[in-house]
Amino acid sequence: MNELDKKSLEKAKTLFSSNDIKNIEVGTIKGLKQIHKYLFDSLYDFAGVIRKENISKGNFRFANSLYLEDMLKKIETMSEKTLDDIIDKYVEMNIAHPFLEGNGRSSRIWLDLILKKNLNKIVNWEKIDKKLYLQAMERSPINTLEIKTLIKNNLTDDFSLKTFFKGIETSYYYETEE
Ligand SMILES: Nc1ncnc2c1ncn2[C@@H]1O[C@H](COP(=O)(O)OP(=O)(O)O)[C@@H](O)[C@H]1O
Ligand SMILES: [Mg+2]
Repeated sequence: MNELDKKSLEKAKTLFSSNDIKNIEVGTIKGLKQIHKYLFDSLYDFAGVIRKENISKGNFRFANSLYLEDMLKKIETMSEKTLDDIIDKYVEMNIAHPFLEGNGRSSRIWLDLILKKNLNKIVNWEKIDKKLYLQAMERSPINTLEIKTLIKNNLTDDFSLKTFFKGIETSYYYETEE
């Protein structure tokens, strides 16, 4: 892991240990921007800022920046009733990919806050294999079955700081080049 990512990982842990997480709005674009800003403040000059450029990963091009703001407003209104609804919302947010970098790490915290509020559960990221997770997300714009199965089978109601820390470490590990 590079120095920037290590610093960001410490910030992510502080978000939970300091209880600042309580000030994050749940399920909104404002909340996601708050998380991104917290994780990458003074590390990226675009911390908490919606991108104006187009970006892609692998064979997938994320939402065109021309209509990104409109899309985010729509995503915000998506249902959070069931687990399927919440994962659909997470998948749409990934397709939007509002930031130049750091979308995965910030949106996984955003997802956990939505799950905790509505279903009283969070994802046990530690139990989800990196390769399987990334494959499922790559597949998700076409078919959400794989990511839904992975998450459904790995939920927990253990909200200890230790579980959050393990989850964050795993989330950062997903984004580390080997
Ligand atoms: N080919 C792909 N198609 C769709 N989503 C992808 C693809 N590859 C990766 N992702 C998603 O994008 C995330 C990485 O986005 P990125 O902005 O680089 O975030 P971070 O910097 O936190 O890694 C992954 O965690 C995954 O959820
Ligand atoms: Mg990245």
